[in-house]
Amino acid sequence: MTTRILTGITTSGTPHLGNYAGAIRPAIIASRQSDADSFYFLADYHALIKCDDPLRIQRSRLEIAATWLAAGLDVDRVTFYRQSDIPEIPELTWLLTCVAAKGLLNRAHAYKASVDKNVETGEDPDAGITMGLYSYPVLMAADILMFNAHKVPVGRDQIQHVEMARDIGQRFNHLFGQGKEFFVMPEALIEESVATLPGLDGRKMSKSYDNTIPLFSSAKDMKAAISQIVTDSRLPGEAKDPDNSHLYTLYQAFATPEQGAEFRSELLQGLSWGEAKQRLFALLDTELSEARDSYHGFMARPDDLEDILLAGAEKARRVATPFLGELREAVGLRSFRSAVQSAGSGKKKTSKGARFVSFREDDGRFRFRLLAADGEQLLLSRHFADGKAAGAVSKQLQQGGELDLRSEEDRFTVWIDDACVADSPEFADSAARDAAIDNLKLALTPQ
Ligand code: TRP
Repeated sequence: MTTRILTGITTSGTPHLGNYAGAIRPAIIASRQSDADSFYFLADYHALIKCDDPLRIQRSRLEIAATWLAAGLDVDRVTFYRQSDIPEIPELTWLLTCVAAKGLLNRAHAYKASVDKNVETGEDPDAGITMGLYSYPVLMAADILMFNAHKVPVGRDQIQHVEMARDIGQRFNHLFGQGKEFFVMPEALIEESVATLPGLDGRKMSKSYDNTIPLFSSAKDMKAAISQIVTDSRLPGEAKDPDNSHLYTLYQAFATPEQGAEFRSELLQGLSWGEAKQRLFALLDTELSEARDSYHGFMARPDDLEDILLAGAEKARRVATPFLGELREAVGLRSFRSAVQSAGSGKKKTSKGARFVSFREDDGRFRFRLLAADGEQLLLSRHFADGKAAGAVSKQLQQGGELDLRSEEDRFTVWIDDACVADSPEFADSAARDAAIDNLKLALTPQ
């Protein structure tokens, strides 16, 4: 079975060394596992919550997209897209908003921290707090649940959000699933082995501490940042303590074990801090220079990035569009054509609660599924040019007349007037197929 891994990066800044070692690099490595089905995206709707500077939003999206590609992300293997290119996500956000408990969101750390700060400074508790900030976890739940991710690699500060996604998804399943689990329960994945890199001052490298080392800016900028790494005052020739040196921690994050061991012994033997910084620069420069060239190449070709991301969005929507169709159906946002059948008027409702769900493919053509009461798919229709044609066929199937079913190995097809109109799923064997045929007949027998 494949594991669906999904993570998003808020596009409000320029990626630094810490983002690279802590999130981007491990995600790319994870995506290469044979059983991984990875969904990586630019969380640009989330960025709007934190930032109202359009130029910065635009620049950050471009920089972050270029960074992932330069770092070696294979877009044929993974699904790489911008959140804002998937209209199903805000739509799902609303469906989830309508089941999310306000009390749950009141407990979100980010929102609570803002309230606490207001209270401390004697402001109105909600001063400066937008509904975007408040609903942030619901949007994030939609990101995750839309694609039924199993694993969500995130930093510790995001664990609560993944738990909220579970909570909200479970509530939706319970309210509308009728026994079917629409949403998989996601799990936060915290990579213990992945380094949280220290910044220039030894605290966690973070834009908010202003202690970052740039990733793909010029070699000169990188050198300048490294020269500012804080060290102790031991003189050249004096033994240094690698275990208490964040310069050493940074070195290790990019070195082979052998290189790390050598650097360690040199520090113990009294390597000067100036020399040590040069070693770190040389290492980073070697490790990153190829990716840096590639990054600048991408930054110079924004049209190509646009094409890549639009192709990624198309791939993501192949999952999102039909799934959202099912969810709309589940909450009662149904076509009037099929509503007649499922509104419980009795007469046209198929027995055993089976229901027709129609949807539209990306190419504009119409199809429908016949789902059993437990949500299992009984039939998937062929394509129809318009909703009316699809509706006429589903209506005819419900009339309860003799069905023209044709078995073909472990599947069967449904025919009307010598045209094939629908297919069964693939069954394990012919006995399972025959059982499904009986089920279908029962489901289509008017009550
Ligand atoms: N909130 C995450 C962060 O700031 C970014 C994000 C948005 C995300 N949607 C997501 C992460 C879905 C994982 C899954 O880091």
